[in-house]
Amino acid sequence: MSNQPRVLSGIQPTGESMQLGNYLGAVRNWVQMQDGFDAYYCVVDLHAITLDPPEPAALRQRTRIVAAQLLAAGLDPDRCALFVQSHVPEHPQLSWVLECLTGFGEASRMTQFKDKSAKAGVDRQGVGLFTYPILQAADILLYQADQVPIGEDQRQHLELTRNLAQRFNARYGQTFVVPEAYIPKGAAKILDLQDPTAKMSKSRPEAGTVYLSDEPAVITKKVRRAVTDTDGEIRYDPERKPGLSNLLAIHAAFTDAGIDSVEKEFSGQGYGALKNAVAESVIAFAQPFAARSRELLDDPAELDRILAKGAERARALASVTMADAYAKVGFLPAVVG
Ligand code: TRP
Repeated sequence: MSNQPRVLSGIQPTGESMQLGNYLGAVRNWVQMQDGFDAYYCVVDLHAITLDPPEPAALRQRTRIVAAQLLAAGLDPDRCALFVQSHVPEHPQLSWVLECLTGFGEASRMTQFKDKSAKAGVDRQGVGLFTYPILQAADILLYQADQVPIGEDQRQHLELTRNLAQRFNARYGQTFVVPEAYIPKGAAKILDLQDPTAKMSKSRPEAGTVYLSDEPAVITKKVRRAVTDTDGEIRYDPERKPGLSNLLAIHAAFTDAGIDSVEKEFSGQGYGALKNAVAESVIAFAQPFAARSRELLDDPAELDRILAKGAERARALASVTMADAYAKVGFLPAVVG
C-alpha cells in the first residue's frame, strides 16, 4: 500500500489516434503524476457506448489503440495501474447505487448531457447518456481518489461526484473520499490550427487537428497551414493573436521551454521559421511515439496481459470499496457455501 495521494483519471477510446491537444492537455500530465502519486488510469469503454456506439470490432480496436498510445506516451505499468473500465465490474455496480442517490433534476442540469442530447433530440438518446456522469462518479469514488486530473469541461461532473460522495457519507456513514479536481497549471490548452478560437478536438475538421499518428509530411502540412494573423510580429498574446500564441505554446511544450524563451528565440523572425520549428518539434515527439504504439499493437497478447495486470490491481481496490458500500446500504451479505 502506498501512502502517496491517489490519483484517478479516465480517457474514452474514441477515434483511431490520440490528438496533440489531448496529449499536451491531459496525458502528458498523467505521465508526470506517476511520480508522487498512487496512479490509476482507466480506458472508459463503458462510457464509449453512450452516444453513437461503435461497431464491436472498432470498439475493441480503439480500446487497444488508446492503451497502446498511453503506454507509448510514457505510462509505465510498474508505476501506475492502467486498466479497462469494463474489466472491473464494480464500476456499473457502484454506479447503480449512486444513480439511486442522484436527483432527476440534478442529472438533467449537466451541461454535457444537455448539449449532446440536444443534438439528436432527447427522445432518441439512450438513458446511458443521462447517467454517464454518475458512472464517472463511480469510476472515481471506487478508488478513493484524492485528485482527479481533468479538463475544464469536466468540472461539473467532478462537482457532481463530490456531491454524491458527501451525500452517501452523510446518509450511510463515512465511506468515500471526497475528491478534488486537479487542473494542472502547466497543462497547455491547445487550439484548433484552422480555428484558433476553438479547442483542438477529434470532432473538428481534420486540417485543424494534429494526430500523433500522422505521417511527418502531414504534420508539416497542417502546421504550415495553421491560421495566424497578418501583423507579422512573433509575440505571445492569446487574446489578439490566438493562432500564433497557440503555435508558441505547442513549441514550448514539446521543447520543454518556457513560452517567453520561445517568444524571444523567434522574435524578429517570420512566421514561416516558427512554423518549421513547430513542425520539427512535434515530429520529434510523434515519430518515436507512433513507432512505439505500432510495436505494442503488433503484439496484442502482450498488450492484453498488461491490461489484465492493471485490472487485477484496480479490482483489488475497487472490490474493497464496493463491499463496504454495499454493506453500508444494507444489502444482505452473500454468504458463500
Ligand atoms: N468524462 C471524461 C471525459 O470525457 C472521461 C472520464 C470517464 C473520466 N471517467 C472518468 C475522467 C473519471 C476522469 C475521471 O474526458
